[in-house]
Amino acid sequence: MANLFHPSFGSRPERIVGRDEVVAQFLKGLEREPGHRDRATLILGQRGMGKTALLLQLAEEAKSQGFIPARVTSGEDMLEEILESIQITGSEFVSEKSSHVRGFSAGVLGFSFGLTFSEEVRTNYGFRTKLSLLCDKLAESEKKVLLLVDEVQPNTDAMRTLASTYQHLAGEGKEIAIVMAGLPGSLSRVLNDKVLTFLNRARKHQLGPLPSGDILAYYGDALSREKRTIASEMLMRATKATKGFPYLLQLIGYYIVELTAEGDEVTPDVLEQAIAAARLELIADVFSPTLNALSPRDIEVLRAIAAQKTSPAVVAEIRAALGMGNSYFQQYRARLIDAGVIEAPRDGALSITVPYLAEYLNNGDLKATETD
Ligand SMILES: Nc1ncnc2c1ncn2[C@@H]1O[C@H](COP(=O)(O)OP(=O)(O)OP(=O)(O)O)[C@@H](O)[C@H]1O
Ligand SMILES: [Mg+2]
Repeated sequence: MANLFHPSFGSRPERIVGRDEVVAQFLKGLEREPGHRDRATLILGQRGMGKTALLLQLAEEAKSQGFIPARVTSGEDMLEEILESIQITGSEFVSEKSSHVRGFSAGVLGFSFGLTFSEEVRTNYGFRTKLSLLCDKLAESEKKVLLLVDEVQPNTDAMRTLASTYQHLAGEGKEIAIVMAGLPGSLSRVLNDKVLTFLNRARKHQLGPLPSGDILAYYGDALSREKRTIASEMLMRATKATKGFPYLLQLIGYYIVELTAEGDEVTPDVLEQAIAAARLELIADVFSPTLNALSPRDIEVLRAIAAQKTSPAVVAEIRAALGMGNSYFQQYRARLIDAGVIEAPRDGALSITVPYLAEYLNNGDLKATETD
């Protein structure tokens, strides 16, 4: 039997744990009329907090409400990709023959067959017209369009075109909805972009750690489906070791299943082995790439934050430890926030967002960790 746990980035887990409320609010928003503020959703979350997994889930759920989801990663090509994705997914709902006939009789021109644009549209019109035509064509089959943009980047032309197109089409009453996901730093800069301020009215969800009650219940259920028995203290220990971090939930669960034979009970030894193996992978999969993307000086600042006795750390104390002037320090602070590795829970305070990263920076490994 395949392992139910799936520790890999950008994949949809077999079950989305602890996000029921976000999903429910999103689905309610889809029932609103076009242009309603709840038709636009922003998902903010630090690295590995489950943004991509949630987008995949929302796309799936929206299908049952008649939406054709187009999911893209923010970038130069995303507009082209959105159109292609709608054409591919939507074509099964549009009969090619009726498209041709109705195209002439009902005045929905622009398609040569199915959802393929006519030569004239393809060469002479831009994203807005094309998306508008797709919405109209799909509306004939009572289908709506859902745009999902992952890893949102601020201040790009493609992002502005996308957002203003959404606003226009929604304003014209087209059946369209949008979800954007990204690091809090990137999304807050998107919201500050003058062209995009309407997004401030969108429904915002900040993805925090998963509630431990939900993790506990999920572990209990998933392990019993995997035919492994586990004592309740062990379940609690496993849950605590995840620190609510979705990726660790998958990793620890994965190793518990791998290291325990079907029908057996999870022993304390095996559980500790599973947690240790999961932490090693956390270093390789999350810490190393995160730190490699930073400059040596960024890392020095990050280490100084990790070394503080209090969590969150006090900015004045970090600066004193580094011997760094305020304006200089602000630059590093901004860079580390943009990278999604630290956050400012309040003025004058900073904390590291990635679980166990502070321990790793302080000790060079995770063995000495006994805070969980
Ligand atoms: N709610 C959840 N329940 C169970 N597993 C989850 C949940 N959310 C995410 N995961 C799992 O955690 C891992 C990380 O999730 P994901 O790739 O969605 O994070 P992310 O926020 O998109 O990260 P990044 O910022 O690096 O893009 C994946 O293995 C995913 O399957
Ligand atoms: Mg992601």
